Amino acid sequence: MKKIKYVLALFIAAVMIFAVGCSAKIELHDVSEYRKILDYKDGFKVMMLTDIHISRLSNVEELSKYLAHNINEAQPDLIVLNGDNFFDASRASVDYLFNFIDSFKISWVYLQGNHDHQGTFEPTYPDEVASRMKYSLNVDYPNDGIDGTQNFYVDLVDGNDLVYRLFMIDGGSYSRLNPVKYTYEQIRESQLAHIEKIQAQEEDDSYTSLAFFHIPLQEYEDAYKGYIEGKYEGKGENREGNYPSAFSSNQYERLKAAGIRGVFCGHDHINNSIVDYNGFICGYGVKATREIYHDDDILGYLLITLTDEAFSIDNCTSVYVDYDSVVGGK
Ligand SMILES: [Fe+2]
Repeated sequence: MKKIKYVLALFIAAVMIFAVGCSAKIELHDVSEYRKILDYKDGFKVMMLTDIHISRLSNVEELSKYLAHNINEAQPDLIVLNGDNFFDASRASVDYLFNFIDSFKISWVYLQGNHDHQGTFEPTYPDEVASRMKYSLNVDYPNDGIDGTQNFYVDLVDGNDLVYRLFMIDGGSYSRLNPVKYTYEQIRESQLAHIEKIQAQEEDDSYTSLAFFHIPLQEYEDAYKGYIEGKYEGKGENREGNYPSAFSSNQYERLKAAGIRGVFCGHDHINNSIVDYNGFICGYGVKATREIYHDDDILGYLLITLTDEAFSIDNCTSVYVDYDSVVGGK
């Protein structure tokens, strides 16, 4: 009996230690801890570079020459690396790109796409490097119970006034909901609730909110169709289908209800349309390099200029830059 009591006590102690260990894993953070602040000015420029796709085989010298030309031309106030920055990359590739971007002394953010973790490094490596670079705004709390590693937001303020709020969202990679079929993930419930919580803290909703993430919403298809039919205002062109999240999780409805005016994605390399879909802008970026599939005549960057006027698709410019004329031809 004594022995049984002893074993039972040991078992209870083990369960308690396990329970304490598990409960200690979640560390909640106030929404203000996800907030980054930059000074707003009329004409604040956000440069979105998407689908850079640096790999171990990339000619990084040539590629960085092209990116440097474009960054120097755009003179942005914020650079958004909107996912698929890497593909079959190494730690050296991550170090190279982030040090290169940081060298411009311009605020920047790293967002992950579906290919960023496919490399010879542990999945957390790009976030670790990004969060310690001088000009990066990335912040992540690994045990905060919110899915993904980019759940922060950048407030552009004029004194005490919030003028623009830019949500940086980790849209995931491949869907875990359907392991048989090759599908893409979506913004998850914990992230949508986090965004809603951030927005709920503001009494004055006169500011404009935009969001950046890699994989487009399912609604992009409807938006483009409506634009082609003349139903919605838009610009640009889609040269391939759109490959959105497999499960919508009501992302569109939730983001729209949270007061977000427009979202900007990458992922579909030769789609560059920007459509005002019932008051919610569905925007594609411009592929930033020649890596993987692309069309040579639509490489460059998306420039979003934020002004005192109401935000519209007119604030978004797809800038196409000829690769050969920048790198000197082949
Ligand atoms: Fe992608």
